[in-house]
Amino acid sequence: MKTKATILLVYFSALFFSCNNSTTKEESTINDSTSHVSAVVSPDIDVDFLAEGKRISTEAQAALAGNLLNAIQKGGSAFAVEFCNTKAISLTDSLANNFNANIRRVSDKPRNAVNQANENELAFMQLVSSKLKESEIPEAKLGEIDGKMVGYYPIVMKDMCLQCHGQKDANINAETFEKIQKLYPTDKAIGYQANELRGLWVVEMNKK
Ligand code: HEC
Repeated sequence: MKTKATILLVYFSALFFSCNNSTTKEESTINDSTSHVSAVVSPDIDVDFLAEGKRISTEAQAALAGNLLNAIQKGGSAFAVEFCNTKAISLTDSLANNFNANIRRVSDKPRNAVNQANENELAFMQLVSSKLKESEIPEAKLGEIDGKMVGYYPIVMKDMCLQCHGQKDANINAETFEKIQKLYPTDKAIGYQANELRGLWVVEMNKK
């Protein structure tokens, strides 16, 4: 029943939060239409953690996306940049507490230097990027690092993201650009196009 609920949640979220990393596809079979059958027949601890991390990252993404859209509606993209600046990390941190997991967003071209991807994460990003270029759907990955189960979930650019991560002028208006430069003088997260890999959700889970 729990598995079914998880699958429903993942499916539901993928449908409704299309401006997130929902184009990920697990290595396991858990997201197939018949997944509840295979998940029950062959319970696999890795499958559980991959799905659990997906659930956590999907919820975190949904919370961020919801708050971001609110901020944009309220005050436009320049105002929303300030929202991301002050709220993005504290929001993911408080969600992480709820899930008893560690959640981070990382990138090879971070806006906030705190979100710089490490060597392992960069290697996985490269793999996902090359798959995306061949129009393959990016997959998630699970590994064990320092006794914790760690899931990587690709974050892919959507059209709506370009107003803050696309090309200056063409996508990012002058006011927003100025605000980004002011808050993030070392910003690298610009010049993206839709469907490019932007980064990863990294979910660290304690072994149960
Ligand atoms: C209103 C402007 C705005 C929009 C729209 C926006 N972002 Fe961002 N994004 C930011 C800011 C500002 C940060 C830095 C947040 C921080 O300081 O932690 C950021 C950070 C990120 C990060 C963390 C890595 C890094 O570069 O620091 C990812 C990943 C990301 N954004 C992806 C997306 C995706 C995917 C979308 C579309 C669904 C999106 N963003 C839409 C402003 C925006």
